[in-house]
Formats: sequence, structure tokens, C-alpha cells
Amino acid sequence: MDRSWDTESEGESSDPHPRPVSLDRRHFLIAVGGAAAYTALRPHLLWARRLRRPPAAGAGTQPRQAWSLPADPPPPGVELARALVAAAVLAPSHWNTQPWRMEVDVQQIRLVRDPQRALPVTDPDQRCLTLSLGAALENMLVCMRAYGLRPTVQYFPHGSAGPVAAVAWSAGEQRRDRELFAAITERRTNRREYDGRGIYLQNRAALLAQIPESLRVHWLDDHRRMRSIADLVHDATRAQVRDRRAQAERMAWMRFGEDEARRRGDGITLEDLELGGLPRWFAGNYFDPKSWFLRFGASSAARQARSAVRSAGALALLTAPRHEETLWLGAGQAYERFALKATQLGIAHQPLDAPIAVESTRAELRRSFGLNGEQPLMLVRLGHAKRPPASARRAVSLVASFRNS
Ligand SMILES: Cc1cc2nc3c(=O)[nH]c(=O)nc-3n(C[C@H](O)[C@H](O)[C@H](O)COP(=O)(O)O)c2cc1C
Repeated sequence: MDRSWDTESEGESSDPHPRPVSLDRRHFLIAVGGAAAYTALRPHLLWARRLRRPPAAGAGTQPRQAWSLPADPPPPGVELARALVAAAVLAPSHWNTQPWRMEVDVQQIRLVRDPQRALPVTDPDQRCLTLSLGAALENMLVCMRAYGLRPTVQYFPHGSAGPVAAVAWSAGEQRRDRELFAAITERRTNRREYDGRGIYLQNRAALLAQIPESLRVHWLDDHRRMRSIADLVHDATRAQVRDRRAQAERMAWMRFGEDEARRRGDGITLEDLELGGLPRWFAGNYFDPKSWFLRFGASSAARQARSAVRSAGALALLTAPRHEETLWLGAGQAYERFALKATQLGIAHQPLDAPIAVESTRAELRRSFGLNGEQPLMLVRLGHAKRPPASARRAVSLVASFRNS
């Protein structure tokens, strides 16, 4: 059903009550010690609190994008363009930064990077940013096909400095990709523990069919090898959180409550991160790069990531033959088709970037998957778990500019 999809919406709400916490003796002592140190270190925590404030006066009224799309093609013109942009906005993005802007011109949409939303320390070559734009592009293309339009894409029409893609369309085609289209509003990154069940062969084939020949997926479902990748993910996550510069950058995208996520329409909440127990209580300190507690945050995030990988039914590593921006954009498109197909099949999935981003584990990952000169772009865990609530999005009106002459 079509709802008003460009205005403030409550979307799906998540459980507002923290989970009950049971403490064993070791954790109790850490908690007591933590509370004492918290008091002593209070002044240092002001920094973290500053990050938690809303960005500017009036930001509370910023509209959020609802997780719905018109089921049937809207009339050509602005209404159609808004639906296409809305589909793009619902794409996954690295840390939910939504690093895109869309310039809409009569019958063309240009997809542009938003440098304000880049993570230069965590993602220095903009691999993840470009993958995110690719995912947004693919949502737009799926939406066009589902509306019976034939899209034409020009990749990097002005070289690498301008838009990453210019998309035009013509009408009169048969409606295609309708099942993937229906999955756009249902897709979620699922960071929960999975139930260990594997992926059926026919589902694996359906997922792999989404990947173009220019890219490759390495599939792994052998439990012994998955456990060794889980250890790698553990080490990468711990190294990533302990890197204080990179952690400061990512902390700015952590949202410390539903209210903040709603106000800003982006970033990742503690609920999204599936934090429970002490890390959730002390998240402001555990993940504060200036805090002495960061070591606890790093260890607990690492353990959680390892356990998440151990609970998966399979891992898929998307690779490209070369280090090339166009391939990253294509890989973002391929990942989104893969994720939409997984959604349609009821398969939970979560990208895991840490072992690719951290240099020391990247080499180990290459060895573990037997990569031969290929570039690892995205590691994804797959399995089965209850679907989490939807994350926040900035509305079409905030990310798109419209020119109708
Ligand atoms: C390039 C890329 C890298 C990502 N890396 C991770 C990751 O390492 N860990 C994770 O939990 N989610 C990762 N994600 C998922 C995003 O955090 C997620 O898309 C975003 O928070 C929005 O949530 P949603 O996918 O449920 O809409 C990644 C997504 C993209 C596109």
C-alpha cells in the first residue's frame, strides 16, 4: 500500500526498553570498577556527550523517509522522479551515512557523492562510499524496471570528479524485477545472531545469479574454515575500534537513542548494533576514542562479531579483478541485487567490512579465501534470524534537487 512517503514517519519502532542484564562475578567487578572510573573520568566524557547533541536548531523538524514506495508507476514528471529517488534512498550504506545527492532534471537523475558524508579515515579510498552509491543506483534501476521503464545508465559521465552515474529512462516496457522491487522496503542489515542453519543449494544459486561476470563471489560454508574467518573478523574488529582516529570518525555516526536517529535520519543506533549488557550501558564510554574504556568496547565488539560469524550458515566474499572505481560501483549494484534476493528468500545478511578495511587482516583474508590477485570488496554473512526494525533515512526532499526546465 502506498503511504505518504516523503514526510515525517514513525516507521517501525524498536523495543524502547533495555534488555535485562544479568551479571556474573567477573562482569560485576568490571561494572563496579567501571562505575568508579566513570566518576573519575567524567570530564573526558563531555566530548562524547557533545557528539550526542542534535546538529542544529530546527533539525528536529527534518523529515524522515518512510519505508514504502508506490506499488504502481506514478504519473510521469516530478511524482515519478520522487518515487525513483525514494527507492535509491532506501539502499544500504556504510554506517548509514547515505553519502549521496541526487540531481533531478526533466528525464534524467544524476547520482552524486556527498563528500560531507565520507569517512576519510575509515574509508580512505572511498571503496565503501562508492559501494553505497552503487547500491542506491541499483535500487533506482530496479524501481524503473518494475514501473515498466527502460533505464539507460552513463557511468562517471564527466570522469571520476563528477556524478558517479547519470540515469535516463524511456517508457513503454514490460514491468520486470517486481519481486526485487517488493524487497526494497523489506531489506534490512541483520546484525543478530543467526540460528546456524545453512543456505539451500537452490537459494545459493539464486543469490549467485545476481552477480555479473565482471565480479566474483567466493562462497564458504565449511564450519572449520568459517571459524577461522570468525577469528579474523574478531581481530579486525578489535583493531578497528582501538584505532582512535578512525573510531572518533565512526562515533559521530553512532546514535544514542531513537530520538537522535529520528532527528538526524541517518547513522546507527545502539539497538541496530545489537549492543546488550555493559556495552549498551556504557556505550558513550566504551566507544569513546578518548576514553580509557575503549579497550573494553573493542574487546566486546570483537567478541560479538566473532560470535555473529560463528552463528552464520555461510559467508560470501565479493571480489573484483582490479582496483577500479567503476568496478566498485558495479559491486555496490551487485551487492544490492544479492541483498534484495536474500530478502525475498528470507535469508538474513550482514556486510562485514572490518577484515577488508584493516590492512593486516586483509592479507590474511586473501589467503583464507585463496584469492589470486583479486580485490576483496565485501564480506557478507548469511543465515536465518528474526528481521530487525528498519533504520532511519533522510527524506527525498533533503537529498534531491529538482529542475523541471
Ligand atoms: C559498503 C558497505 C559496508 C558495510 N559494512 C558494514 C559492516 O561492516 N558491519 C555492519 O554491521 N553493517 C555494514 N553495512 C550495513 C550498513 O551499516 C547498513 O546498510 C546501514 O546501517 C543501514 O541499515 P539497513 O541496511 O538495515 O538499511 C555496510 C553497508 C555497506 C553498503
